[in-house]
Amino acid sequence: MRVLVIHGPNLNLLGEREPDIYGTQTLADVDDYLAAVARDLGIEVECVQYNLEGEIVTAIQGARSSCDCIVVNPGAYSHYSLAIADAISSVPIPVIEVHLSNIAAREPERRISVTAAACIGSISGFGAQSYALALHAATKILGK
Ligand code: DQA
Repeated sequence: MRVLVIHGPNLNLLGEREPDIYGTQTLADVDDYLAAVARDLGIEVECVQYNLEGEIVTAIQGARSSCDCIVVNPGAYSHYSLAIADAISSVPIPVIEVHLSNIAAREPERRISVTAAACIGSISGFGAQSYALALHAATKILGK
């Protein structure tokens, strides 16, 4: 079982970006953690990061033939990108949305996710563990 993890815009600055909200772990720390979780679960994981909306759309489309599941943190695009929501709706594999922070408890404009509405489910508020929980969910959904 192969899972593509897509980190969206500004997540390349994790560790230095608003650490009071997003923590002090870097993106490399998060990816190392996910590699360890994937090893324990006996699954393959590939992590990528894109700042541009179109690159995320292309990655979602590409994963439909190479992966069994996508875990995506669309960052700020979550709150308004119909292009990413449409890409998620267009692929036959399950897509799980994750957020480091609890978007339901943040500014009003962050409480809505148009992309989560296109996903099988979403996990928000557990820091890097949001991604790990999504990998666990993926193994359950796919019956691994
Ligand atoms: C985020 C939440 C978004 O509102 C924000 O724009 C991000 C990160 C999160 O993981 O908590 O870039 O997706």
